[in-house]
Amino acid sequence: MRVAMIGTGYVGLVSGACFADFGHTVVCVDKDERKIQSLRNNIMPIYEPGLDDLVARNVKASRLSFTTDLTPAVAEADAVFIAVGTPSRRGDGHADLSYVFAAAREIARASQGFTVVVTKSTVPVGTGDEVEIVIGEAAPDADIAVVSNPEFLREGAAIEDFKRPDRVVVGTDNDRARKVMAELYRPLFLNASPILFTDRRTSELIKYAANAFLATKITFINELADLCENVGANVQEVARGIGLDKRIGAKFLHAGPGYGGSCFPKDTLALMRTAQEAGSPLRLVETVVGVNDARKTAMARKIATSLDGDVRGRTIALLGLTFKPNTDDMREAPAISIVHALLDKGARIRAYDPEGMEEAKKYLPDSIVYTGSPYECAEGADALVIVTEWEAFRALDLVRIKELLNKPVIVDLRNIYRPAEMATLGFSYESVGRPLKTDHVVHALSMYEEASQES
Ligand code: UDX
Repeated sequence: MRVAMIGTGYVGLVSGACFADFGHTVVCVDKDERKIQSLRNNIMPIYEPGLDDLVARNVKASRLSFTTDLTPAVAEADAVFIAVGTPSRRGDGHADLSYVFAAAREIARASQGFTVVVTKSTVPVGTGDEVEIVIGEAAPDADIAVVSNPEFLREGAAIEDFKRPDRVVVGTDNDRARKVMAELYRPLFLNASPILFTDRRTSELIKYAANAFLATKITFINELADLCENVGANVQEVARGIGLDKRIGAKFLHAGPGYGGSCFPKDTLALMRTAQEAGSPLRLVETVVGVNDARKTAMARKIATSLDGDVRGRTIALLGLTFKPNTDDMREAPAISIVHALLDKGARIRAYDPEGMEEAKKYLPDSIVYTGSPYECAEGADALVIVTEWEAFRALDLVRIKELLNKPVIVDLRNIYRPAEMATLGFSYESVGRPLKTDHVVHALSMYEEASQES
């Protein structure tokens, strides 16, 4: 199959490279000349493990190419994916669809023969219908079927998620389009990944419903973490205890500083707006959005409390800035709210992130001092805060960290260390929803698990 991928952002680039790896011929199109030039030189605009090798391999095999010229790429394509941005519109939180419609117009004029136009961008329910109207106006004779095919890729694990998805969702009532989509995803059929064919509106809603549900799960455990701190219970154990129930499931129950990223904040907000306008407000989702926003700033208070409530003139060392590990993405990262709140309280901030510091400079005030390693970051600081759980932070030399810190204070917003061990090392240690006195239970349980694995 011949594929044109419009937009070489996160979703477009990963999807384009993976479709090429499936054996299709893919042309990735972007208006940004510099980005296309860099991609031709195998320089990735984002950090995603394995992506540069995947791109290089498929470019070499002539299955993947990059261009700014949409017209020929679309003219030759069996399927054209719209993978442009749908940012939150300023003011009302709706998804801004202007890039999607602009792409649809250009595609309509360039298409030749039967062409399947697929919206990969996350778009509100009913957008497929609007895209169809836009296409009909731009090129009334074009033979086009508009399909919804949302992505469920997690940053940092996007290639794996594309190639071994829990499911693929395709929304269309058009038989010819269904055949093209089935052919595109054929390697997944062979892997026995479920492909759900449904109507377009349902498909569009599935994407929002999935993200809103996961955001709700995280927010639920985050609020329980606060409760655990107040009643002397352990949130990790609560998460295990409920997660072992298959109806609940163990994933997305890690308490932390609140969800961030390019999807959850934007999509929960857009779903909330859609629901309000449709006359079926989703009160649960509205609450999740509010609770999560408040949580990010509350984390700065937690840090201040670990320093007796006053951070004025104190130096705080932040480890991890990106919204999660294995990405350089800073969009809606909890670090942003935490930094602003701490600066407002008069703190000085040093920071280290393995991949995200260049990106962070675009989002954070200039007063932040960026450092070259976790140890340099800790030097002379009054508290060390784990904001993002990069793997490298799990194996820090904590004795050295303690020597470097001005005060032995660690605030672990991702629960990567054990309270009892930190206490033994002489740290004043705060984590999320795990009071020190509850730690022996976790310890006993892990010993039990080790013993039962050995036997
Ligand atoms: C998400 C969805 O998982 C993916 O299916 C969708 O297509 C895009 O949005 P992503 O934003 O890359 O993917 O990251 P994800 O791993 O889902 O994490 C989102 C946020 O939730 C991060 O800030 C993460 O730290 C937080 N999170 C996640 C938690 O706080 N606790 C958890 O248990 C899981």
